[in-house]
Amino acid sequence: MDGALALGGVTLERARSALREREPHARAFYAYDLDLLSTRARRFQSAFAALRPLVAYALKANALPAVLSRLAALGLGADAASLGELELAAAAGFGAGRRLLNGNGKSPEEIEWAGREGVHSVNADHVVELDALEDSAARHGRTLRVALRVNPGIVAPVHPHVATGGEEAKFGISPGDALAAWEARGRWAHLTLDGIHVHVGSQILDPEPLERTVGVALDLRAEAGRRGAVLRLLNLGGGFGVDLEGEREFPVEVFGQKLAERLAGLEVDVVLEPGRWLVAPAGVLASEVLWVKERDGIRFVVLAAGMNDFLRPALYGARHRIEPVRPRVGEHTPATVVGPVCESADTFARDVPLPPLEPGDLVAVFDAGAYGASMASSYNGRGRLAEVVVADGRLVLARRAESPADLVARRAEEPLEEIPPRD
Ligand code: LLP
Repeated sequence: MDGALALGGVTLERARSALREREPHARAFYAYDLDLLSTRARRFQSAFAALRPLVAYALKANALPAVLSRLAALGLGADAASLGELELAAAAGFGAGRRLLNGNGKSPEEIEWAGREGVHSVNADHVVELDALEDSAARHGRTLRVALRVNPGIVAPVHPHVATGGEEAKFGISPGDALAAWEARGRWAHLTLDGIHVHVGSQILDPEPLERTVGVALDLRAEAGRRGAVLRLLNLGGGFGVDLEGEREFPVEVFGQKLAERLAGLEVDVVLEPGRWLVAPAGVLASEVLWVKERDGIRFVVLAAGMNDFLRPALYGARHRIEPVRPRVGEHTPATVVGPVCESADTFARDVPLPPLEPGDLVAVFDAGAYGASMASSYNGRGRLAEVVVADGRLVLARRAESPADLVARRAEEPLEEIPPRD
């Protein structure tokens, strides 16, 4: 590939020229290697194979239809947390028995959808929600399987924005309230309330907090059993991290084996909800350099992509590796890589060693397959980027960019109320 960065055998430069033919103003885009995605999905499935789990991919990480249909074809499930994600999952081929409804603020429409279309299970965030689920299930003449999300009081050592297990986190109920609900499960005739759901955070690289969480879940299951409530659904959530420096890995095989040992002999249906681990390394954000300027001894490299396209650096201070697609010969010197959005938070990296860069050069931001495009917005009047996929060496446009014309076209002028006639 003559030294240029490639994805699934296609150089990012080739992807850029092909995309430009279709979308002349595309100066940045997301690109995903679907074959790498499959490899990771299969590796995850085999790491946990002894448990025969439902591996329900968390759509929030990246709900590109091409990604979803690939994962559906491999037999994964779908973890959806909104009406949009439920519909995307269904459209991608995840059948009723393979989709979950998650979320701490389910809308009436989402609850209705689960009853109408059917799901594998619902993770209820609190006890009052059970009444609404009961109504929906009864209306549609079905039984809904429900896991209660328990907040185990474990604060994972991750960015506070993505820690979900502590006292201050908004998620789940206390173990005591969960036990009381399981004991009272007869109150909800159309629910099979036999599950526990835990999820203590995201981007966890050391399995220790996850192992502790499993311990809390199993202790609680044992206590529920003593009180006559047999829990047969164990949903351990997601959170498996990806090291942005590319130096270590979340050890899925070791964790899978330990889990299999701990759950041996228990009659439980296991659910896992990985998002990032599956898809982050399969995607890059490719962007042109628009400008390079020096000021106060700082080399600012201004990319066409900004914080609206990739929010992780601004929101979590995440530092993703950035490399030129075709490095120029020359000394590596410090660069501060920024986007074009009118905020200082629009900074991808500070003082990172990079070779010489010129306007028009293409750079790749790594591990952008998860929580990249899915968190993008059109802030600053910048439509969302195109997304391309490579599969079997073939390059496909998988989602069009949002053009300036698309932004203009959203304008509406539709009276929402009848104007009463004047007398
Ligand atoms: N299950 C539940 C209930 C979740 O809330 C999440 C993620 C997942 C599974 C998937 O977690 P994962 O395996 O991807 O870590 N935007 C943030 C991440 C937010 C994660 C939200 N919940 C980021 O870019 O780091």
